[in-house]
Amino acid sequence: MKRVLEPELMDSFAQALAYSEADFSLSDRGFMEALAKYLIESGQAIFSDHVIIDLGCGPGKITELLANQWPQCQVCGIDGAEVMLDLARKRKDQFLPHVKSLKYLRRNIASLADTNKKTNLKGNLLVSNSLLHHLHDPLELWRTLINLSCPESIVFHRDLRRPESKVKALEIQQKYLPIAPQVLIDDYLASLQASFTVAEVKLQLQQFNLGHWNVVEVDDRYLEISGTF
Ligand SMILES: C[S@@+](CC[C@H](N)C(=O)[O-])C[C@H]1O[C@@H](n2cnc3c(N)ncnc32)[C@H](O)[C@@H]1O
Repeated sequence: MKRVLEPELMDSFAQALAYSEADFSLSDRGFMEALAKYLIESGQAIFSDHVIIDLGCGPGKITELLANQWPQCQVCGIDGAEVMLDLARKRKDQFLPHVKSLKYLRRNIASLADTNKKTNLKGNLLVSNSLLHHLHDPLELWRTLINLSCPESIVFHRDLRRPESKVKALEIQQKYLPIAPQVLIDDYLASLQASFTVAEVKLQLQQFNLGHWNVVEVDDRYLEISGTF
């Protein structure tokens, strides 16, 4: 199936609310478990003076898990959609009011990817979940990581993987999101069509001499990218 772009930002209120109210806890926990496994297997660790950046954080559910896992670290969730960040900040006030080390920033990945713009924002752990497929130019994510990295920054990114056909995409939607508001089902199908294959991501990374990072298929719907600068 050919890649079909979807809008980058999830900035309609109905769309952001449906996404925030959906229960993705199983896959969010899967993200954290896979990250922990990668850190152990690669012999890397997160230290208390580390900065963790969650790109395309949406309503912040994974950002919160990161802040809970590493409470001594500064954790920063970044998204370009103000409605998503409003939801993320409300969740933080409700569920993690005592956590001072978690903050949210509104930035478009395009501006972070611009090598002419210097940024003081640097992360020792740079993660994203379900961001890459939103980007019309996927190379912006890899440029952003280069700009936000410091020596030995760890990267861990998970996204949907593009199925071979629309029929397969429908099968995946019916398996993992059978009952949901229509806006969420439409977004999910659009996301599957906009996502990449492992081979495509490997080619993208090679353009930045990052071909040594691991890009692997995970079960029947995800791909995972991990590595170190
Ligand atoms: C599918 S949601 C994933 C949210 C979160 N990472 C999660 O797993 O729950 C994708 C998020 O990426 C954001 N996004 C997409 N393109 C972006 C861009 N160019 N700059 C900043 N944020 C972007 C969207 O606004 C949306 O909140």
